[in-house]
Amino acid sequence: MKVPVDRREALSSAADAVAIGLFERGEKEEALPRLLAKEDAATGGLVGAAWKRREIKGKRKELTVFHRPDGKGRLVLIGLGPRARFDPETIRRAIAEVVKGLKGKGARTLAIRFPTFAVESVPADTAARAVVDGAVLGAYEFVRYKSTTEGGIEEASICLGEELSRDEGLVKKAVAEQLTVTETVVWTRDIANLPADTATPERLADEARALGKEFGLKVTVFDEHQLAEMGCGGLLAVGGGSSHPPRMVILEYPGGARRGRTIAVVGKGITFDSGGISIKPAPAMANMKFDKSGACAVLGILRAAAALKVPPRVIGVLCCAENLPSGTSYRPGDLVRTFNGKTIEVLNTDAEGRVVLSDGLGYVVKQYRPDEIIDLATLTGAETVALGDDTAGLVSTDDRLAGGLLAAAAATGEPLWRMPLTDYHRELVKSEIGDVRNSIEIPLAGMLTAAAFLETFVGGTPWAHLDIAGPAYTTITTRKYQPAYQNFGAVGFGVRLVTKYLEGAAPRS
Ligand code: BES
Ligand code: ZN
Ligand code: ZN
Repeated sequence: MKVPVDRREALSSAADAVAIGLFERGEKEEALPRLLAKEDAATGGLVGAAWKRREIKGKRKELTVFHRPDGKGRLVLIGLGPRARFDPETIRRAIAEVVKGLKGKGARTLAIRFPTFAVESVPADTAARAVVDGAVLGAYEFVRYKSTTEGGIEEASICLGEELSRDEGLVKKAVAEQLTVTETVVWTRDIANLPADTATPERLADEARALGKEFGLKVTVFDEHQLAEMGCGGLLAVGGGSSHPPRMVILEYPGGARRGRTIAVVGKGITFDSGGISIKPAPAMANMKFDKSGACAVLGILRAAAALKVPPRVIGVLCCAENLPSGTSYRPGDLVRTFNGKTIEVLNTDAEGRVVLSDGLGYVVKQYRPDEIIDLATLTGAETVALGDDTAGLVSTDDRLAGGLLAAAAATGEPLWRMPLTDYHRELVKSEIGDVRNSIEIPLAGMLTAAAFLETFVGGTPWAHLDIAGPAYTTITTRKYQPAYQNFGAVGFGVRLVTKYLEGAAPRS
């Protein structure tokens, strides 16, 4: 997607469609807003007539398309809802609604009448970033396995018009930066959407190697033999049932600032989670190809960090394995010794994410002594039960880190909700015969017992855990409630959020 910044008025552009934002109209608001006078003229009075009939209300998601009698394409009015509740997320969804609404209708170019989106409460550069998110992510489709596609908007111009031409420099910079981030989200989605026969642990390692080459990052891949020598019993146990052996992948971005922190970002990369011997029921099992979304997000975060040259040094860790039942699978009752020497009593082979993460966390702590660790994992069904499928669960041992992530979440529209971690949860995951158990086998605080388990492997490092089981992908059943900028499939959740956090990460004090 190209997003040029244009000084001209949107209405005078030659685009196939012009997008105009419109706030919700008041009950007694009769006269056509002055804002729409030009549109009314361009449509030979059609806009005014629709307004009079109260067909146009400006409610969120309301999309009204007019064809210009002069044959110069269409005008698309998109409702923005109440003016008092206007924010960047409204812009993201509105622009996505327009782009999706025009899909398959032959429109390739869109001119956005930017002054109808960059108003009062939302400054022009913030609004421009939101437009980029909405356009790029709204247009996204996973087309790799389609023999034909409908095609859609390929270029969305931000038309400043006279009102905003003075902001040209600011807007151009914001657009360039945000395009880097959103294109990385698209790249991440394309990997996360790959089915498990293709996206094997080795394939994820290949993606990391290619990324390293492109951006000059150091990439290390540990195969199953090296993992055995290192004592990574967690990855080996979980990957033991698959003919695609496990991998641990490390990516190092050296950092843009002199006294930058070292931040480790660790991702769960289960390329398919059948549950293993504790096998899952058949319905929706296909969604478990998305169980690698945390690792894919880590790839995306490293890509965006390197492209934007964020201040901190960033170490990415991917814990990749396929969880399948077979004669060589690990079993309930097994005891697994992990990288840092701690042992796990396996009670349920379907609680495998925490088992692979134990090695990744233990390794990064010992090898890099990071100032902070952030992990991303589609870890528990309980996360979805507690928070639904648009919000990720946040568990953290560090208020500053948690606060920074919550601020980044608010800015990017990738919602997070912090949940408590107490001694109660820590007590529940203790094992009688090992150090920790991977399941407590009773439905109590599933997201938090999983977090308590992970905490035992971070060795006191300030740490934040993002359980992205819900928001990592959208499903058929929830699709109608999802933000319009998310397609069916992988969302790339966490890339915009954690990148934002890294951009603002303070130097070492
Ligand atoms: N990958 C799943 C969690 C999951 C569920 C992600 C639904 C996305 C949607 C994870 O490995 C798992 O199966 N967790 C178990 C843990 C339990 C056995 C302690 C769960 O949540 O049921
Ligand atoms: Zn599982
Ligand atoms: Zn899983």
